[in-house]
Amino acid sequence: MHSRIFLIGFMGSGKSTHGSKLARKIGYDYVDMDRLIEETAGMSVPAIFREHGEAVFRKWERDILLELCRRENLVVSTGGGAPCHGGMIRIMNDQGCTIYIRLSPAELQQRLLLSRTERPLIKGKSEEELLHFIEKLLEEREKYYQQAMHTVDGVNLQTERLVELIRASS
Ligand code: S3P
Repeated sequence: MHSRIFLIGFMGSGKSTHGSKLARKIGYDYVDMDRLIEETAGMSVPAIFREHGEAVFRKWERDILLELCRRENLVVSTGGGAPCHGGMIRIMNDQGCTIYIRLSPAELQQRLLLSRTERPLIKGKSEEELLHFIEKLLEEREKYYQQAMHTVDGVNLQTERLVELIRASS
């Protein structure tokens, strides 16, 4: 079994929910990259975007990923943009098993509308603006997400499905 599992996908796709359950099921440690960046920086993701800008956030995200690649027996929920910047999808594929949790723009929109997590990239958008934003950004990001070793449908996804995939892939 791979010693590092990276869950990737758009904001709201369920990476954190499945990541923590998956880690518990396979006895691995669990890390949510955004939370680790926040702890390390001593500020929230929205504050990092506001005070330092997205480019700095991406650099810190990459630095954290490289740190995590030194650890073993780890499930990592990545930020939605992580695989699409700084060659991070390549790093993850080299250092572990990557799983893309895939959902349609309409499904992501519904989930993001219900989510209470503050996300700087979508803050203040109307329902319609949100859908257009998701469609456009997802189209740009698909080419990175599709480089994942496995893709799973995020609708009605059972964490057990991820366990099976990981156990079957070496
Ligand atoms: C981002 C997704 C967020 C967080 C940041 C940027 C993105 O993580 O890293 O707000 O670029 O898609 P989640 O995917 O956990 O929401």
